[in-house]
Amino acid sequence: MERSGSPPEVTVREATLADVDALVDLLVAVAGEGRWIATEAPVDTDRRRRRMVEDIEAADAVVLVAEAGGTPVGELGLHLAPYGVADLGMAVAAGWRGRGVGGALLAEGIERARAAGAHKLALQVWPHNPAAIALYERFGFQREGYLRRHYRRRSGELWDAIIMGLRLD
Ligand SMILES: CC(C)(COP(=O)(O)OP(=O)(O)OC[C@H]1O[C@@H](n2cnc3c(N)ncnc32)[C@H](O)[C@@H]1OP(=O)(O)O)[C@@H](O)C(=O)NCCC(=O)NCCS
Repeated sequence: MERSGSPPEVTVREATLADVDALVDLLVAVAGEGRWIATEAPVDTDRRRRRMVEDIEAADAVVLVAEAGGTPVGELGLHLAPYGVADLGMAVAAGWRGRGVGGALLAEGIERARAAGAHKLALQVWPHNPAAIALYERFGFQREGYLRRHYRRRSGELWDAIIMGLRLD
């Protein structure tokens, strides 16, 4: 079941170029945790900044930021493929997790994908990320596939990934 809205002190809005540094800092922090996202430390921050600028300016991408007291505490990115699928990635700052920020971002992200004409949202998540899986399932995402020993990490480990999808049609 979806939450009725974001927690009172958090707002979700489209990212602007003024957010780029803070969003790259967030990515670096989450990558540094080493467990949750595909990006690994050390992050090439110049390249990430360029990509973030491109995404904010692109017609086929959406970048949302969750802000608390003027500080970005979460980010959601969508890439719209020409065949109608929006690929989703997101992250919330460690100190803000479990307080509905992810839910607020995802609710808005789903609406943005729908408004952009996507018929489906797609993502991949590590099987060892129960908080993300719980959030996605709460919003109706279904497990569509499983990639075994698919992603090689810098440690040399091979990680599985769950493919999840949310139909919007
Ligand atoms: C996944 C993530 C974005 C969720 O953001 P969030 O702000 O914590 O999300 P919410 O507070 O809205 O909801 C989190 C849900 O996970 C649940 N949860 C948290 N820890 C959990 C756990 N260990 N096991 C099961 N569920 C868990 C919460 O109970 C909540 O569900 P509920 O509202 O139904 O109770 C956030 O944890 C995060 O950024 N993690 C690191 C980066 C990441 O994993 N990104 C996604 C990669 S696919």
